[in-house]
Amino acid sequence: MNTQHSPNSSDTGFDVVVAGAGVIGLSIAWELNSLGYSVLVIERDLPGAGTTRVAAGMLAPVGELDFGEPTLLEINMVSAGMYPEFVASIERACNGVLGYQRMGGLHVALDRDEAGALKRAHQLQTESGLRADWLGPMAAREIEPGLAPGLSGAVLVEDDGAIDPRVLVSGLLEALLAEGVEVRSGSGICSLKQKRGRVEAIELDGGERIETNSVVAAIGADAGRADWIPAEARPPVRPVKGQIVELKGDPAVPVCEHILASERVYLVPRRDGRLIVGATVEEQGFDSTVTAGGVHELLREAYRLLPDVAEMEFLGAVAGLRPGTPDNLPVVGASVVDGLYLASGHYRNGILQAPVTARAIGDIVGGAEPRGAIAAASPSRFESAVRG
Ligand code: GLY
Repeated sequence: MNTQHSPNSSDTGFDVVVAGAGVIGLSIAWELNSLGYSVLVIERDLPGAGTTRVAAGMLAPVGELDFGEPTLLEINMVSAGMYPEFVASIERACNGVLGYQRMGGLHVALDRDEAGALKRAHQLQTESGLRADWLGPMAAREIEPGLAPGLSGAVLVEDDGAIDPRVLVSGLLEALLAEGVEVRSGSGICSLKQKRGRVEAIELDGGERIETNSVVAAIGADAGRADWIPAEARPPVRPVKGQIVELKGDPAVPVCEHILASERVYLVPRRDGRLIVGATVEEQGFDSTVTAGGVHELLREAYRLLPDVAEMEFLGAVAGLRPGTPDNLPVVGASVVDGLYLASGHYRNGILQAPVTARAIGDIVGGAEPRGAIAAASPSRFESAVRG
């Protein structure tokens, strides 16, 4: 049985401490603050310096749909639908523009084999009731003239979009600051203090104790190995490495207007002329080294798709760790420790799933059931496995 909290219930300390200041942690803090809770965000590194910094920020539930994942699709669709208001609420508070764009995605088959796979993916999209249009090579090149001339076909997903996660983090930080929410960086949680099986405080690396009855672990791939999370509550989250390359062109003459994707690479244009080329998917444990092989593969595949990338400035490459789970669903909800909540396991969809995750944590901390398909992301589905 988990403790339920009413807003602003604590006299000292905080109603809720959120561990992790990536997009997930900051979005949760934003939601909890708007519900009236006193919130403290604790970040071991710098806000947004983890996987968020590496994410391309695709909001593409349709284009990224895979076989056998209807619940994931539902979660992603709900969260995509929440995005306009989520962004607007942050923009109102930070007086800035976060650059959320529904520019659409074009998924391209570069040869006949790829066309077969893309046709099957398109069939899945239409059978799932989603809007996606098959285009022949000429039609595809009409809307994206820079595409490789030999392409076999494409699927246009008009509703997909993107946001720059680094801009989103800046906006969230400003909005939280404007609301008086403290985001403390440079020190992580080193232990969770419990009394009679309930969270009563946390202790930071430097020894400081902070009173709270609710802690949300929004620490990405680290959730699977964080010592301060009691072993029985630690979710089976593993790091899945992704490398990206950043290129820069003239914003007045963008190399593409849509998100472009082939079987092996995706390209996400930013308004400032940057192009994000992503991403490798590697099971390498906690290794976030940028490798020559990773960069070579991304650039080779980007060039096959959009030859104009060869003329762009190479800004750099970074690697991050997606928090993967055994079933590709996130882990969002109450843990077996009373007062400890988990918000991790977002794998390839962290930026997309931020609004629905934040809303679910708001519901659960308040003692309600999470709304909709995100209920399937409850940590309880792993409890027998975790306990062995
Ligand atoms: N959502 C894209 C990725 O994880 O690479």
